[in-house]
Amino acid sequence: MSAKALSFIFGSIMAVAIVLSFAAARDFSKPNLEVMPDMYHGPAYHAFDENPNTENGRTLREPALGSIPRGMMPFEYALTEPDALRAGEELVNPVSPDDTGSLARGATAYAIFCQHCHGPGGAGDGMVAHRGFPPPPSLLIEHAIKMKDGQMFHVTTLGQGNMPGHAAQVSREDRWHIINYIRTLQAEALNKPAVAPPAATPAEETPSEGTQTEGVQP
Ligand code: HEC
Repeated sequence: MSAKALSFIFGSIMAVAIVLSFAAARDFSKPNLEVMPDMYHGPAYHAFDENPNTENGRTLREPALGSIPRGMMPFEYALTEPDALRAGEELVNPVSPDDTGSLARGATAYAIFCQHCHGPGGAGDGMVAHRGFPPPPSLLIEHAIKMKDGQMFHVTTLGQGNMPGHAAQVSREDRWHIINYIRTLQAEALNKPAVAPPAATPAEETPSEGTQTEGVQP
Protein backbone atom coordinates (compact mmCIF):
# COMPACT_ATOMS: atom_id res chain seq x y z
CA MET A 1 0.00 0.00 0.00
CA SER A 2 1.32 3.37 -0.87
CA ALA A 3 2.11 5.96 1.79
CA LYS A 4 -0.59 8.18 0.35
CA ALA A 5 -3.26 5.49 0.78
CA LEU A 6 -2.07 4.77 4.37
CA SER A 7 -2.27 8.38 5.44
CA PHE A 8 -5.73 8.61 3.86
CA ILE A 9 -6.92 5.62 5.90
CA PHE A 10 -5.45 6.95 9.19
CA GLY A 11 -6.76 10.41 8.45
CA SER A 12 -10.25 8.99 7.91
CA ILE A 13 -10.08 6.96 11.13
CA MET A 14 -9.03 10.12 13.05
CA ALA A 15 -11.82 12.16 11.50
CA VAL A 16 -14.43 9.50 12.39
CA ALA A 17 -13.03 9.26 15.95
CA ILE A 18 -13.22 13.03 16.43
CA VAL A 19 -16.79 13.20 15.10
CA LEU A 20 -17.82 10.26 17.33
CA SER A 21 -16.20 11.77 20.43
CA PHE A 22 -18.39 14.84 20.02
CA ALA A 23 -21.47 12.85 19.13
CA ALA A 24 -21.28 10.42 22.08
CA ALA A 25 -23.37 11.63 25.02
CA ARG A 26 -21.22 12.31 28.08
CA ASP A 27 -22.48 12.88 31.63
CA PHE A 28 -20.41 15.79 32.92
CA SER A 29 -21.68 15.33 36.46
CA LYS A 30 -19.73 12.06 36.71
CA PRO A 31 -15.94 11.89 36.91
CA ASN A 32 -14.14 10.87 33.80
CA LEU A 33 -12.60 7.48 33.36
CA GLU A 34 -9.70 7.09 35.79
CA VAL A 35 -7.13 4.79 34.30
CA MET A 36 -4.79 4.58 37.29
CA PRO A 37 -6.57 6.12 40.31
CA ASP A 38 -3.65 5.50 42.71
CA MET A 39 -4.40 7.67 45.78
CA TYR A 40 -7.01 9.95 44.19
CA HIS A 41 -9.64 8.91 46.73
CA GLY A 42 -8.09 9.06 50.19
CA PRO A 43 -10.19 8.32 53.25
CA ALA A 44 -10.16 12.05 54.26
CA TYR A 45 -12.55 13.33 56.90
CA HIS A 46 -14.69 16.34 56.09
CA ALA A 47 -14.18 19.31 58.43
CA PHE A 48 -17.41 18.75 60.37
CA ASP A 49 -17.41 14.93 60.33
CA GLU A 50 -17.31 12.96 63.53
CA ASN A 51 -13.87 11.57 64.06
CA PRO A 52 -13.01 8.60 66.28
CA ASN A 53 -9.31 9.54 66.25
CA THR A 54 -9.51 12.80 68.19
CA GLU A 55 -10.14 13.21 71.91
CA ASN A 56 -13.29 15.29 71.46
CA GLY A 57 -14.61 13.32 68.51
CA ARG A 58 -14.40 16.27 66.11
CA THR A 59 -12.39 16.45 62.93
CA LEU A 60 -11.80 20.21 63.10
CA ARG A 61 -9.07 20.85 65.66
CA GLU A 62 -9.05 23.86 67.94
CA PRO A 63 -6.10 26.24 67.60
CA ALA A 64 -3.43 25.77 70.25
CA LEU A 65 -3.96 27.85 73.36
CA GLY A 66 -2.59 31.36 72.91
CA SER A 67 -2.38 31.21 69.13
CA ILE A 68 -3.45 34.35 67.26
CA PRO A 69 -4.50 34.72 63.63
CA ARG A 70 -1.86 36.11 61.29
CA GLY A 71 -2.01 39.90 61.18
CA MET A 72 -4.12 40.20 64.30
CA MET A 73 -2.83 42.40 67.11
CA PRO A 74 -3.93 41.17 70.53
CA PHE A 75 -5.89 43.63 72.68
CA GLU A 76 -5.33 42.52 76.24
CA TYR A 77 -7.82 44.68 78.05
CA ALA A 78 -11.15 43.76 79.60
CA LEU A 79 -14.29 45.87 79.60
CA THR A 80 -13.63 47.31 83.06
CA GLU A 81 -12.83 50.80 84.23
CA PRO A 82 -9.39 49.90 85.63
CA ASP A 83 -8.50 48.33 82.27
CA ALA A 84 -9.77 51.43 80.43
CA LEU A 85 -7.49 53.58 82.58
CA ARG A 86 -4.60 51.15 82.10
CA ALA A 87 -5.12 51.36 78.32
CA GLY A 88 -4.89 55.14 78.68
CA GLU A 89 -1.48 54.77 80.33
CA GLU A 90 -0.08 52.04 78.11
CA LEU A 91 -1.40 52.52 74.58
CA VAL A 92 0.28 55.09 72.40
CA ASN A 93 -1.48 56.55 69.37
CA PRO A 94 0.67 55.35 66.46
CA VAL A 95 -0.69 58.00 64.08
CA SER A 96 0.54 61.58 64.24
CA PRO A 97 -2.29 64.03 65.01
CA ASP A 98 -0.77 66.43 62.44
CA ASP A 99 -1.22 63.96 59.60
CA THR A 100 -3.85 65.54 57.33
CA GLY A 101 -4.55 62.17 55.71
CA SER A 102 -5.35 60.76 59.15
CA LEU A 103 -7.73 63.64 59.90
CA ALA A 104 -9.54 63.24 56.58
CA ARG A 105 -9.89 59.49 57.13
CA GLY A 106 -10.94 60.09 60.75
CA ALA A 107 -13.64 62.55 59.64
CA THR A 108 -15.05 60.05 57.15
CA ALA A 109 -15.03 57.15 59.62
CA TYR A 110 -16.50 59.35 62.38
CA ALA A 111 -19.34 60.38 60.06
CA ILE A 112 -20.09 56.74 59.31
CA PHE A 113 -19.68 55.12 62.72
CA CYS A 114 -20.04 57.73 65.46
CA GLN A 115 -21.96 60.77 64.23
CA HIS A 116 -25.45 59.25 64.47
CA CYS A 117 -25.04 59.10 68.26
CA HIS A 118 -22.34 61.66 69.08
CA GLY A 119 -23.55 64.31 66.65
CA PRO A 120 -21.72 65.92 63.72
CA GLY A 121 -19.63 68.11 66.02
CA GLY A 122 -19.30 65.65 68.93
CA ALA A 123 -21.80 67.44 71.21
CA GLY A 124 -23.82 64.27 71.84
CA ASP A 125 -26.77 65.38 69.72
CA GLY A 126 -26.82 62.74 67.01
CA MET A 127 -30.00 61.61 65.28
CA VAL A 128 -30.17 58.41 67.36
CA ALA A 129 -30.08 60.47 70.56
CA HIS A 130 -32.88 62.67 69.15
CA ARG A 131 -35.00 59.57 68.65
CA GLY A 132 -34.84 58.24 72.19
CA PHE A 133 -31.43 56.55 72.62
CA PRO A 134 -29.80 57.73 75.87
CA PRO A 135 -27.72 60.67 74.64
CA PRO A 136 -23.98 60.22 74.99
CA PRO A 137 -22.01 62.81 76.93
CA SER A 138 -20.48 65.57 74.83
CA LEU A 139 -17.01 64.74 73.55
CA LEU A 140 -16.22 68.45 73.83
CA ILE A 141 -16.25 68.70 77.62
CA GLU A 142 -13.45 68.31 80.12
CA HIS A 143 -13.96 64.59 80.78
CA ALA A 144 -13.42 63.60 77.17
CA ILE A 145 -10.83 66.30 76.52
CA LYS A 146 -8.69 65.00 79.39
CA MET A 147 -9.25 61.35 78.43
CA LYS A 148 -6.02 59.88 77.09
CA ASP A 149 -5.94 58.58 73.52
CA GLY A 150 -5.40 55.04 74.78
CA GLN A 151 -8.52 55.16 76.95
CA MET A 152 -10.55 56.60 74.08
CA PHE A 153 -9.25 53.71 71.98
CA HIS A 154 -10.41 51.34 74.71
CA VAL A 155 -13.92 52.91 74.74
CA THR A 156 -14.13 52.79 70.95
CA THR A 157 -12.90 49.19 70.86
CA LEU A 158 -14.89 47.62 73.72
CA GLY A 159 -17.58 50.21 74.43
CA GLN A 160 -18.61 51.85 77.69
CA GLY A 161 -21.98 51.86 79.44
CA ASN A 162 -24.64 52.20 76.77
CA MET A 163 -22.12 52.49 73.96
CA PRO A 164 -21.42 49.20 72.20
CA GLY A 165 -17.88 48.27 71.21
CA HIS A 166 -16.86 49.09 67.65
CA ALA A 167 -13.99 46.64 67.18
CA ALA A 168 -16.01 44.60 64.69
CA GLN A 169 -16.94 47.46 62.38
CA VAL A 170 -14.10 49.98 62.67
CA SER A 171 -10.56 48.87 61.87
CA ARG A 172 -7.82 49.46 64.42
CA GLU A 173 -6.17 52.16 62.25
CA ASP A 174 -9.48 53.93 61.67
CA ARG A 175 -10.11 54.02 65.43
CA TRP A 176 -6.86 55.98 65.87
CA HIS A 177 -7.73 58.25 62.92
CA ILE A 178 -11.15 58.95 64.50
CA ILE A 179 -9.47 59.84 67.80
CA ASN A 180 -7.20 62.31 65.99
CA TYR A 181 -10.27 63.81 64.35
CA ILE A 182 -12.15 64.08 67.70
CA ARG A 183 -9.13 65.99 69.06
CA THR A 184 -9.57 68.58 66.30
CA LEU A 185 -13.28 68.92 67.21
CA GLN A 186 -12.25 69.45 70.83
CA ALA A 187 -9.61 72.01 69.88
CA GLU A 188 -12.20 73.90 67.84
CA ALA A 189 -14.66 73.78 70.76
CA LEU A 190 -12.02 75.13 73.15
CA ASN A 191 -11.55 78.13 70.89
CA LYS A 192 -15.19 79.13 71.02
CA PRO A 193 -17.75 79.26 73.84
CA ALA A 194 -19.37 75.85 74.26
CA VAL A 195 -22.89 77.27 74.54
CA ALA A 196 -23.86 80.39 72.62
CA PRO A 197 -25.05 82.99 75.13
CA PRO A 198 -28.75 83.75 74.79
CA ALA A 199 -29.50 87.00 73.01
CA ALA A 200 -30.18 89.70 75.55
CA THR A 201 -33.74 90.98 75.64
CA PRO A 202 -34.52 94.56 76.69
CA ALA A 203 -36.08 93.23 79.91
CA GLU A 204 -32.78 91.59 80.88
CA GLU A 205 -30.86 94.74 80.09
CA THR A 206 -32.71 96.64 82.80
CA PRO A 207 -32.80 94.12 85.59
CA SER A 208 -34.96 94.76 88.56
CA GLU A 209 -33.18 95.28 91.84
CA GLY A 210 -31.56 92.22 93.29
CA THR A 211 -31.00 90.43 89.98
CA GLN A 212 -27.31 89.70 89.51
CA THR A 213 -25.97 89.94 86.00
CA GLU A 214 -22.36 90.30 87.01
CA GLY A 215 -20.04 87.77 85.54
CA VAL A 216 -22.35 86.89 82.66
CA GLN A 217 -20.35 87.21 79.53
CA PRO A 218 -21.97 88.69 76.47
C1 HEC B 1 -25.18 53.76 69.60
C2 HEC B 1 -24.71 55.08 69.90
C3 HEC B 1 -23.22 55.32 69.91
C4 HEC B 1 -22.33 55.15 68.88
C5 HEC B 1 -22.60 54.61 67.48
C6 HEC B 1 -21.06 55.59 69.37
N1 HEC B 1 -21.16 55.98 70.67
FE1 HEC B 1 -19.66 56.65 71.83
N2 HEC B 1 -20.92 56.76 73.41
C7 HEC B 1 -22.27 56.48 73.38
C8 HEC B 1 -22.82 56.59 74.71
C9 HEC B 1 -24.28 56.38 75.11
C10 HEC B 1 -21.75 56.93 75.56
C11 HEC B 1 -21.79 57.09 77.06
C12 HEC B 1 -21.44 55.76 77.65
C13 HEC B 1 -21.53 55.74 79.17
O1 HEC B 1 -20.51 56.06 79.81
O2 HEC B 1 -22.60 55.37 79.66
C14 HEC B 1 -20.58 57.03 74.70
C15 HEC B 1 -19.30 57.36 75.16
C16 HEC B 1 -18.21 57.56 74.35
C17 HEC B 1 -16.93 58.03 74.81
C18 HEC B 1 -16.57 58.36 76.25
C19 HEC B 1 -16.94 59.77 76.57
C20 HEC B 1 -16.74 60.12 78.03
O3 HEC B 1 -16.53 61.30 78.30
O4 HEC B 1 -16.79 59.20 78.86
C21 HEC B 1 -16.10 58.10 73.72
C22 HEC B 1 -14.66 58.54 73.71
C23 HEC B 1 -16.88 57.67 72.59
N3 HEC B 1 -18.16 57.35 73.00
C24 HEC B 1 -16.39 57.58 71.32
C25 HEC B 1 -17.11 57.04 70.24
C26 HEC B 1 -16.55 56.85 68.93
C27 HEC B 1 -15.15 57.20 68.53
C28 HEC B 1 -17.54 56.29 68.17
C29 HEC B 1 -17.48 55.84 66.74
C30 HEC B 1 -16.49 54.85 66.42
C31 HEC B 1 -18.70 56.14 69.02
N4 HEC B 1 -18.41 56.60 70.26
C32 HEC B 1 -19.91 55.59 68.59
C33 HEC B 1 -23.00 56.13 72.27
C34 HEC B 1 -22.47 55.83 71.04
